[in-house]
Amino acid sequence: MSSDLSPIDKAKFVCAKRASQMVESGMRVGLGTGSTAAWLVRCLGERVRDEGLRIQSVPTSTRTAELARQVGIKVISLDEAKWLDLTIDGADEFDAEMNLIKGGGGALLQEKIVATASDRMVVIADVGKKVETLGAFPLPVEVIPFGWQTTQALVEESLVSMDVLGRESSLRMNGDAPYVTDEGNHIIDLHLKRIGSPRQLAMVLNQMPGVVENGLFIDICDCVVLGYGDGKVEVHEIDSATVASEQVDFADSGNLFSDLSD
Ligand code: A5P
Repeated sequence: MSSDLSPIDKAKFVCAKRASQMVESGMRVGLGTGSTAAWLVRCLGERVRDEGLRIQSVPTSTRTAELARQVGIKVISLDEAKWLDLTIDGADEFDAEMNLIKGGGGALLQEKIVATASDRMVVIADVGKKVETLGAFPLPVEVIPFGWQTTQALVEESLVSMDVLGRESSLRMNGDAPYVTDEGNHIIDLHLKRIGSPRQLAMVLNQMPGVVENGLFIDICDCVVLGYGDGKVEVHEIDSATVASEQVDFADSGNLFSDLSD
């Protein structure tokens, strides 16, 4: 089954697998959302089942909570956990300073709350997520439904004085209806092409009354585990400015792939 995976899925799997080894018994762990984070949850479920790993998890979406329960990981609320040892999550883009764009899967609000309430945030990403400058991926901004069009207009107006290349925005849709987040909000995607000053933009966006949160994660990520299609992973640590490279073996995860093909 692993041989059926595309190179990008292999890259997602190996970084998730490597990051799952950072989790120790007794930890309270934030679980991200998205296809890479789903691999992480499956790998952790495998460790719970095969090694008796004992963890309490705080998922960042209903989707992730469902999967975590399915694979036997204990789920608690953030208020029960209060603080987390580690959060592992995917990203849509990251730059050399480990600034991130997140929220492609619509879960940015819970993701940012959970990551910020953690001693350490580890991002798992395939190599395609690495960029020189953030902004090619549309930046998600979560807004409350009340007056969302007015909020969108205000956001667009604020972009005029920002260091960005594009200024268009669009309401995220789910079929014919606006997309609704787990918190009952909508998402405006900003098509900025290039974000010259992510820190400034994040601050400006969050000052708008109808904006709940934006998908720029600044100074939150501590480590990126980067996956390649040939099974190589690189662990980039921001504090020590180190990069460790290794190869992840698919063979010892045979169960995971056969579970998927059931
Ligand atoms: C979810 O809201 C996002 O922040 C995801 O973490 C991000 O979109 C990465 O998703 P993939 O792992 O599916 O690329």
